[in-house]
Amino acid sequence: MPLDRRQFFQASAALGASFALPAPLLAAEKGKERRIDLVSSAFTVALDPSGASRSAVWGFNEQLPGPTLRFRRGERVHLAVKNELPQETAVHWHGLRVPNAMDGVPGVTQHPIATGGRFDYRFELRDSGTFWYHPHQASFEQVPRGLYGALIVEEEKPPSVDRDEVWVLSDMKLDNQRQPVEDFGRILDIANDGRIGNQILVNGLVAGSQRTLTIRSGERLRLRLINAASARFFRLAIDGHEARIIAFDGQGVTPHPLPAGGLALGPGMRVDLIIDCMGSPGQSFPLRDLGRPPATPTVLGALTYSSQPALRSKPLASAVTLAPNRIAEPDLAKASDHYIIFQGGMRGSPVIGLVDGKPSRIQEIMAKQGLAWTMNYNAQHEHALMHEPLLHLRTGEHVMLHMINETDFLHPMHLHGHFFRVLAVDGKPTPHREWRDTVIMGPRQSIDVAFVADNPGEWMYHCHILDHAAGGMMGTIVVE
Ligand code: C2O
Ligand code: CU
Repeated sequence: MPLDRRQFFQASAALGASFALPAPLLAAEKGKERRIDLVSSAFTVALDPSGASRSAVWGFNEQLPGPTLRFRRGERVHLAVKNELPQETAVHWHGLRVPNAMDGVPGVTQHPIATGGRFDYRFELRDSGTFWYHPHQASFEQVPRGLYGALIVEEEKPPSVDRDEVWVLSDMKLDNQRQPVEDFGRILDIANDGRIGNQILVNGLVAGSQRTLTIRSGERLRLRLINAASARFFRLAIDGHEARIIAFDGQGVTPHPLPAGGLALGPGMRVDLIIDCMGSPGQSFPLRDLGRPPATPTVLGALTYSSQPALRSKPLASAVTLAPNRIAEPDLAKASDHYIIFQGGMRGSPVIGLVDGKPSRIQEIMAKQGLAWTMNYNAQHEHALMHEPLLHLRTGEHVMLHMINETDFLHPMHLHGHFFRVLAVDGKPTPHREWRDTVIMGPRQSIDVAFVADNPGEWMYHCHILDHAAGGMMGTIVVE
């Protein structure tokens, strides 16, 4: 192993200590650092609107989802995390480009936060958009128990809308008593589609037509959707409205309508929609998850019109475009090619994986190690036990990353610390060349993305089906 991570943390902690003191003072002088306290703990909540029964969950600040954090681009924040869970944790700020030491990955960027312990995350918000936060320790258990929340960074000049709403989509696997089923980390889930809940939640409450967002006719609505489920894909459609997509994963994209078959939102992914609400007072329109055929659609919630008179009789004509974040543009002419090949899974062809450098048959790896997937022929355990980064990149390197899925499964692949442009699917150029931090790789599909590796550090690169990540689809990319 090229670098001893333990020594590295100590060195960076010492550095942090010597620089930590002046920094907050400076920020305080400018009145710019905003402090938020987050406590992760176990508690109970009512998932049903009736409040008839309470379910045991884990979460932040005794809320499900955790509090929605709203900041503005350019602000400095201090997120003070206290751990009152019965196990170690750490918090990752999904999608935000933060300095590596603030990325919240135990075993890679910090020591885990012990029960009773705390960690102070301090960074500047470089990017506006829709983000979220969640633990990166045993995330296949901690996230589906309820540890997640929205993190919104407003543009310096947000587009003018009448309403800005966040819906955090997730699910839970509940028994007849409405308590979570304690079956995290089963190899059957790891090697298949992941552990999918039997109850969809919208902002921590059971989904359904009773989950309504009350709007007024004529309003322009910005709806931010976050998929915080550990394995479930959503395929979104809205009745009676022409919603336009204005951002993926927080980054502005040429406004365009939802695809006819519904908008696929994989675990970890976000979308911002603009909806000009032109229904009549009293009407109600469902927002549906079309699911994966042959599944029947599920109503997630509804847009319900209040009886107030219309705010305007015609939709606003102005287009909504988001001021772009400053992301370095990859120059394809000088980009270096890198490849990552994915294999494994229950229905996969037999593959050989390297565990700790030793070749093993995938069936044996599953039975003995709880691993089911390989990336570039390596199967690795969660962070702490990882041995070799997948790729080494030079700081400033222009990178063309070819991801080749040789499995029969969908994988939402996520890279920390950077955004990438999605350029091609199976060699075919994408219409919007969108920036993303998480991209869906369909079964047997190849995806080409490009980015400039300009954020130094060791960054996670993993599948956001958290059971897949636990089962080997987790590695790191070093920018040095
Ligand atoms: Cu949303 Cu590595 O995580
Ligand atoms: Cu996966």
